[in-house]
Amino acid sequence: MNILLTGGAGFIGSHLVRRLLTRSEHQVVNLDALRYSGNLTNLESVQQHPRYRFVQGDICDQPLVESLFQAHRIDGVINCAAETHVDRSILDPGSFARTDVVGTGVLLEAARQAGVRRFLQVSTDEVYGSVETGTSSETDRLAPRSPYSASKAGGELLALSYWTTYKFPVVVTRGSNTYGSHQYPEKFIPLFVTNAIDGQLLPLYGDGRQCRDWLAVEDHCAGIEHAFLHGEPGTAYNIGGGNERENLTVAEVILDSLGQPKSLLRYVSDRPGHDRRYAVDCSRLRELGWKPAVAFADGLRETVRWYQEHESWWRPIKSGEFKRYYEEQYRRRLEEGTACGS
Ligand code: DAU
Repeated sequence: MNILLTGGAGFIGSHLVRRLLTRSEHQVVNLDALRYSGNLTNLESVQQHPRYRFVQGDICDQPLVESLFQAHRIDGVINCAAETHVDRSILDPGSFARTDVVGTGVLLEAARQAGVRRFLQVSTDEVYGSVETGTSSETDRLAPRSPYSASKAGGELLALSYWTTYKFPVVVTRGSNTYGSHQYPEKFIPLFVTNAIDGQLLPLYGDGRQCRDWLAVEDHCAGIEHAFLHGEPGTAYNIGGGNERENLTVAEVILDSLGQPKSLLRYVSDRPGHDRRYAVDCSRLRELGWKPAVAFADGLRETVRWYQEHESWWRPIKSGEFKRYYEEQYRRRLEEGTACGS
């Protein structure tokens, strides 16, 4: 297939580009706006690949998007392009509605007009909202609670409406918290790992007892590819790692693995509307033949090692735009935070 993969310079997108080029025969056109978290160094290993093309641009740019379908005879789309960080959605909700809803709409319509055979919308388990007990299955009611998850829910509902209305073959994946190499250090694991490497404080929101189901990026990409190739049109698929952990536990493992003391932990004021827990039932995708392969202990160890060995990747990021964001998000909270055990 000739696949248009959007957001391919980001974290999950770049892992997926590399996977498709090394493990399949597909042509990949990567459309990425290269905003703050898009990074072409993530793709250095494939930039000369004969089946790879990069185009810088925005999924909201309708003339550009339409031209790509014709120029590259695109017959499959994987939409990874998104604003993804919950904390940033609280600071600037409009940009999330724009990219995650409007951009998805532009892409869907251009793909439908071009007669694309397959469209996969990468969504998130956050669309179910906070799940106090049990697990979410795909038929559960969507109850997003942040501007980020509400925008993702809007995008995926628009995608699913294209199946109901036009029989346009859309598949949706709802992935859980993903971790691995090349993740922008605003997210919990890379932020805590890089802060710990530098002996800086680790800001735990609220009581630190929120639960997330950690999914290795390789397993997430395998799930996306599997749903793209084998999923039923008009259907959503949960993708989870089966590794539920409290944030405090993950933070302690990170500190241990870097030989840093627990005194670096700081309880800081909570994220507004913070979802307590997510957990997904993945039996639908498992029945199609996918299952996660990476044990969390191994994946986390490898991830910590990657950040230790790739300071040249994350140090320039942390000293640029990120520094302003970090100040705004954390300085006051850290000053007012309390140490672990106090
Ligand atoms: O569940 C899938 C989702 O996982 C993805 O759709 C999102 O794009 C991704 O950002 C992630 O959302 P979370 O909000 O769960 O991830 P984040 O890494 O921001 O936070 C993970 C947990 O750690 C959450 O309970 C908040 C907490 N946290 C996070 C940060 C950045 C802290 O305690 N301190 C922090 O500084």
